[in-house]
Amino acid sequence: MRSKHPKLQTPEDTTAATAALAQQDVLVHVDEEGIAWLTLNRPTKRNAINPGIVFEMNEALDALEMDERAKAVVITGAGDAFSAGQDLKEYFREPDAGHPMLRERMHRANAAWQWRRLMFYPKPTIAMVNGWCFGGAFQVLLGCDLAVAATDAQFGLSEINWGIIPAGIVTKSVAMALSQRAALYYIMTGENFDGARAVQIGLVNIAVPREQLENRTRQLARTLIERNPVVLRSAKTAYHHCRDMGWEAAYDYLAAKSDQNMVRDPEQGGATGMRQFLDDKSFRPGLGAYKRPG
Ligand code: ACO
Repeated sequence: MRSKHPKLQTPEDTTAATAALAQQDVLVHVDEEGIAWLTLNRPTKRNAINPGIVFEMNEALDALEMDERAKAVVITGAGDAFSAGQDLKEYFREPDAGHPMLRERMHRANAAWQWRRLMFYPKPTIAMVNGWCFGGAFQVLLGCDLAVAATDAQFGLSEINWGIIPAGIVTKSVAMALSQRAALYYIMTGENFDGARAVQIGLVNIAVPREQLENRTRQLARTLIERNPVVLRSAKTAYHHCRDMGWEAAYDYLAAKSDQNMVRDPEQGGATGMRQFLDDKSFRPGLGAYKRPG
């Protein structure tokens, strides 16, 4: 039965919710290729994450998951910064001075988009790191599936420099993504490093000169858009869950997840790919993706 609750209704036009977004601290643009660009838009504050970004990002991600134009999401920053991390004034000091529940509400909403929402987002996500990336911005970066950086972008776990630990869930994310040596080095020294070093330590996938950043990101987004979206989502969800599972449970979970795809996948990837390879001999899985219907 159809729900009467507005949040549980599919709008006639799924772009309507995106069009209705506030777009003040976060700009949203879905281009003709199906790439949704989410731009943190506080360049004069180096895109420091304030309540505006927190609440607008939650709303934007909600809108884009239903927006049928959006096939992949890219998160980047306006101006010369990706993001200078959490806003020391608006995210920490001001809520800390108010009702204790305000602080809690803010942190909960921030964890919602930076961590839980991004990690399991139904569409593929790419962080395009165009400049400064500090502290809490690491969570945005690691929340995204893949990351492309400008070679000269500057990264830093700067928390130690002003006397706090990388909290939120940053330390956990960094520990999952980097080696112990690299993680503790940057957590404990607060030293900066560039995009090339970020590739070396596995923090980003690719670093390119700044003038190539957008094109390289587009190219990667196109590759993801060409893939079967149901299987893509399933593959990333499986990755995140399997990391925390024992071997036997992971084996059984992956079998169940594969079976789930057979029910959920309208284009029946697997069977379609097998037919195109074995019967039609129209492609080779080792050399690229099967031809999607439509
Ligand atoms: N929180 C609040 N305001 C910030 C932040 C931030 N994280 N980062 C920058 N700003 C503000 C500055 O206060 C300044 O505001 P003003 O113009 O009103 O004085 C404006 O943004 C521009 O900053 P500048 O420092 O003047 O810019 P510059 O280009 O010289 O330096 C840099 C950029 C290196 C990013 C510097 O701003 C900086 O060190 N920011 C803090 C980075 C950081 O440590 N982030 C981690 C925060 S902790 C966390 O995320 C958990």
